[in-house]
Amino acid sequence: MLKLDHVSTEYDRVPMLRDVSLSIEKESLVCLLGSNGAGKSTTVKTIIGLVRPMQGNLYFEEKPIGHARTDQIIQMGIAVVPEGRRLFPKMTVLENLKLGAYFVKDRQDIAARLQRVFHLFPVLETRIVQTAGTLSGGEQSMLSIGRGIMARPKILLLDEPSLGLAPKLVQEFFVTISRIHREEKTSILLIEQNAAKALSVADRGYILQKGRIIAEGTAQELMSSDTVKRAYFCQTDG
Ligand SMILES: Nc1ncnc2c1ncn2[C@@H]1O[C@H](COP(=O)(O)OP(=O)(O)OP(=O)(O)O)[C@@H](O)[C@H]1O
Ligand SMILES: [Mg+2]
Repeated sequence: MLKLDHVSTEYDRVPMLRDVSLSIEKESLVCLLGSNGAGKSTTVKTIIGLVRPMQGNLYFEEKPIGHARTDQIIQMGIAVVPEGRRLFPKMTVLENLKLGAYFVKDRQDIAARLQRVFHLFPVLETRIVQTAGTLSGGEQSMLSIGRGIMARPKILLLDEPSLGLAPKLVQEFFVTISRIHREEKTSILLIEQNAAKALSVADRGYILQKGRIIAEGTAQELMSSDTVKRAYFCQTDG
């Protein structure tokens, strides 16, 4: 469904992603792991056309998107829940959610989408008139994912959605992500620093280190791989 084919990018002529190949099958949940500065958010920005590949290409449903505009890419069915949530703090929960379905004109359709979000995150329904900036951290995470779901995307790119959540909430949060994947039949690219939690819900995973993919495989393969344990797992497990 989504494929990066030998993609390299630069920031001000400094190489960042190097020869990154990655693919996400329809209806699969793939995680992209890596420590700070590995290039995870850059990968998301490259997928949605905010960073352009210097080499290689990207394909969505077999169509090349490496030169498409961001709005065109989004309209093809790719939604992003960006790092740091990026909500509109002065707008209400309802207004933030509706922005996720910005391109949809049919009111009934918007109402149906809202109901799906409230089904997944009941607490949001009780807070529709509250401004987003006054929500708790956990509620803000739910709202940012809810906004992503409002677009009814074919694929959802989640950039560290669990960041800043209390450990107690993190577990519940990963359960919700796998529910979204299962119930909405949405493909998901889940970016995480918490390798153990992400691999526990993912089908497959990739490990990014200094802009390169250093390991890939099924979640099970990665969990038992010595390279992965040494390079990454031990520092971030838990
Ligand atoms: N616009 C930019 N100009 C120059 N360098 C950048 C730019 N954006 C990111 N970088 C650099 O590229 C590297 C990768 O950044 P990126 O945001 O992709 O990392 P990340 O894996 O998402 O890290 P984190 O887990 O901290 O979010 C970092 O060293 C960062 O400083
Ligand atoms: Mg990042």
